[in-house]
Amino acid sequence: MKDGFSKLSKEEKLKQVVRLFDNPPQVLEEFKSYWHSDAATQKRFDEFSENTITNFYLPFGIIPNVLINNKNYMVPVVIEESSVVAAASKAAKFWSDKGGFKARVIDTQKIGQVHFIWLGEKQKLVDCFVSLHSELMINTAHLTANMQKRGGGIISIELVDMTVYESGYYQIKACFETCDSMGANFVNSCMEEMAIILTNWVENQSAFTEEEREVQIVMSILSNYTPDCLVQAWVECDVKDMHAAAKGLSADDFVCRFEKAVRIAQIDTHRATTHNKGIYNGVDAVVLATGNDFRAVEAAGHTYASRSGKYASLSEVQIKDDKFVFSLTIPLALGVVGGLTNLHPLVRRGLEMLGNPDARELMMIAATIGLANNFAALQSLTTTGIQKGHMKMHLLNILNHFEATQDEKNRAVEHFKNQKVSFSSVRDFLLAMRENVIPNS
Ligand code: MEV
Repeated sequence: MKDGFSKLSKEEKLKQVVRLFDNPPQVLEEFKSYWHSDAATQKRFDEFSENTITNFYLPFGIIPNVLINNKNYMVPVVIEESSVVAAASKAAKFWSDKGGFKARVIDTQKIGQVHFIWLGEKQKLVDCFVSLHSELMINTAHLTANMQKRGGGIISIELVDMTVYESGYYQIKACFETCDSMGANFVNSCMEEMAIILTNWVENQSAFTEEEREVQIVMSILSNYTPDCLVQAWVECDVKDMHAAAKGLSADDFVCRFEKAVRIAQIDTHRATTHNKGIYNGVDAVVLATGNDFRAVEAAGHTYASRSGKYASLSEVQIKDDKFVFSLTIPLALGVVGGLTNLHPLVRRGLEMLGNPDARELMMIAATIGLANNFAALQSLTTTGIQKGHMKMHLLNILNHFEATQDEKNRAVEHFKNQKVSFSSVRDFLLAMRENVIPNS
């Protein structure tokens, strides 16, 4: 057990960590080699988190040609899976000739809850709630004033009776508009304040018995499930225009297979999970590049995917009157102010690259990339299979694993244009090349 690790300086922390390795001096230098050369920038990165000893690099890439609501974007993405970027780029290009993507924000409400136990006579609480409601509004005004100036604040507050599940369990459920911020801190502060207001209010209710003047606050926190912070992205075209995506199939056969693939993800939980993972490949990559909380986004999305009581596909396809319509509807609580958005230099550049969108526009962009990835995955899965493209993209990683030189990489890329890529086929190719069995062409 190491007590007080967080109190050590960064150097001291590093020294403790490298003791775990066989060659501490070398590992120390290696960790340090990832520090930023500018001390102020490095300090900023260190302060993003706790117990930081170095930086962990991830690629910052671009999906070009993303046409959304007639506006063209270069979308920044942070992800380690090259095929995700390639697939979304290909889908974006494909749809840009067909009017591009369309997107709309359905709503932007966030939710906070005070979970409490009160063992009094239910009807009394229900009857007095109007007075509690006004206390909650008035006494949180100091917290909500700024948000209100920006057009947001508390939208509604309700009392939720949960006593059928747990004796005396109620919630104060508040809905918020948090404008351009994701709003987690704002909502949490309001909910903690509401818990105090509730406690005081209960203590002062003359209509309550002495026992009823006691409330147990269990917890006060936002809910990451935001089914009313919802965005939809879609593409549509004539079925015959899907020919270009059909990879040898007829347009009709292709859309039929595509529809079946989505249908399967609506029926089968195993497939739905992978299907939705493919969507979040794209969504998370935008969310990360723009400094947002991908864990919150994923948690909300997967809960939303289960809203019918069964986990299912987040995307839908409709083929009607020879029109193909493919859409994605997901909850997305995103911000463009606060958190990392103003602090991380590359997040700032990412947002700038998108033309400094507001939160609503960013929701539409992230959902669109999710849809693009889902489209590309289903296109491959229902035609050539996924591995062909995946392994081609993975080739460089395998070559790097074997420490291939640039010349070896060039030759391997050429060779595998028409060959199946696998870990062993690349290894064998390199071995043969290194033993000069494959002549330099
Ligand atoms: C891989 O990261 C994502 C896919 O598995 C998604 C899917 O199967 O739909 C290709």
